[in-house]
Amino acid sequence: MMHTAFAAAVLVAMLTACAVAPAWRGAAYAPRDQGPLDVPALTVLGRSLFFDPALSASGRSACASCHDPRFAYGPPNALPVQWAGLDGRTPGLRAAPSLRYLQTLPPFSEHHFENEDDDSIDAGPTGGHTWDGRASSARDQARLPLLSADEMANTSPADIVARLQRGAQADAMRRVFGAQVFDNADTAFDAMLFALEVFQQSPADFYPYSSRYDEVLRGRATLSKVEARGLALFNDEAKGNCASCHPSAPSADGTFPLFTDFGLIALGVPRRADAQPGSDLGLCGPLRSDFARRADYCGLFRTPTLRNVALRRAFFHNGVLRSLDEVLRFYARRDIYPQEFYPRGADGAIAKFDDLPPAYHANINTDLPFDRRAGDAPALSDDEIAAIVAFLHTLTDADQRR
Ligand code: HEC
Ligand code: HEC
Repeated sequence: MMHTAFAAAVLVAMLTACAVAPAWRGAAYAPRDQGPLDVPALTVLGRSLFFDPALSASGRSACASCHDPRFAYGPPNALPVQWAGLDGRTPGLRAAPSLRYLQTLPPFSEHHFENEDDDSIDAGPTGGHTWDGRASSARDQARLPLLSADEMANTSPADIVARLQRGAQADAMRRVFGAQVFDNADTAFDAMLFALEVFQQSPADFYPYSSRYDEVLRGRATLSKVEARGLALFNDEAKGNCASCHPSAPSADGTFPLFTDFGLIALGVPRRADAQPGSDLGLCGPLRSDFARRADYCGLFRTPTLRNVALRRAFFHNGVLRSLDEVLRFYARRDIYPQEFYPRGADGAIAKFDDLPPAYHANINTDLPFDRRAGDAPALSDDEIAAIVAFLHTLTDADQRR
């Protein structure tokens, strides 16, 4: 059904893929005895694989179950985390992100510099796929859900390949990668990941730049008065200061903004009531293990893009907040009225930053708008919050407007 619904989009993607050089990173999968890569064919195959529930052990979860194209490749429902696994009822640890606008995501690095000048400031941990930056490419990334018990629940690459070989995509796999593709399970698994990665580089699907704000940047549309006020507050270093982490202006070379600098930052977002306290410390673990000893990295999560954010119904890495209005109130009021966001602890006091053990509270960001104390005025009034939310709605791509 989905295939038919998206046939038109496939065509657009193919035409675009022919016109624009695809920009996937990393070494290309190069099977022996193959000519040049056929990007349109790989894109079509990758798309079919993305929608194929046969890739999951339960036969019920496709990539598209959690990354739905009708929601900018984000979750199609209001659940804070998606359910999958062998039984289809295992909740994941984190909110499913949108897969749009990741095409220039840099690989993870502990030290990020805007440019190569000696005086460029070290922006700290930046980049990498997932909320903690642990996957270096979309290809490595796809291994994670495919082999994770609470997502697609396969036990090994061979497990998936065996099902793929019996499934609807087997002939297409042979056409694109050669008749011998299934002779070696690792080769077949790699080939499948490569097709998925090429699909995720399809401009029409993954970075259309078709929001109203993009049209404004092209000089073909204007913001309403309240949206323009929202943008000004978003940019203003003395008000929202949002653009310091979610850049909103085209870069010097004219590249349109992604509304993320891909930096990893601790905001101290509240614990979800059904989650164990401290069960997800982001950059210092538990899903990634290379920084388990870095106390200064606990609680850091990668800044998400705000493009298409108005389509979401659960926000932050744990999906704990339920509306943009709530998110904006969190930014404006976290340090003045913590009781609005955090429960009381056993001692009766407000358990501020209840999802992060106290030893790591020093990691939490205190830049504006998080620079307030009890008794201060919030950085943003309710009226100003409403204006920023109105602006965020202009970041929804044209194919996503209801
Ligand atoms: C059960 C829901 C679920 C399924 C199925 C799923 N994902 Fe995800 N996806 C997630 C979650 C949750 C994350 C965030 C993981 C994290 O931060 O550890 C994620 C992250 C990603 C990312 C990284 C995005 C970013 O911002 O860095 C990519 C790429 C991705 N998924 C692609 C896929 C592909 C391809 C498939 C199919 C092979 C797939 N996903 C299947 C839930 C899912
Ligand atoms: C110091 C950097 C920083 C600043 C300043 C900042 N953000 Fe964020 N933003 C982040 C990070 C990091 C996250 C993810 C945090 C997490 O999930 O733990 C985030 C998440 C969000 C989300 C949730 C997106 C999603 O997909 O769940 C929204 C919406 C958002 N920010 C909007 C804003 C707005 C509006 C402002 C200005 C009022 C702002 N941010 C200021 C770093 C920042």
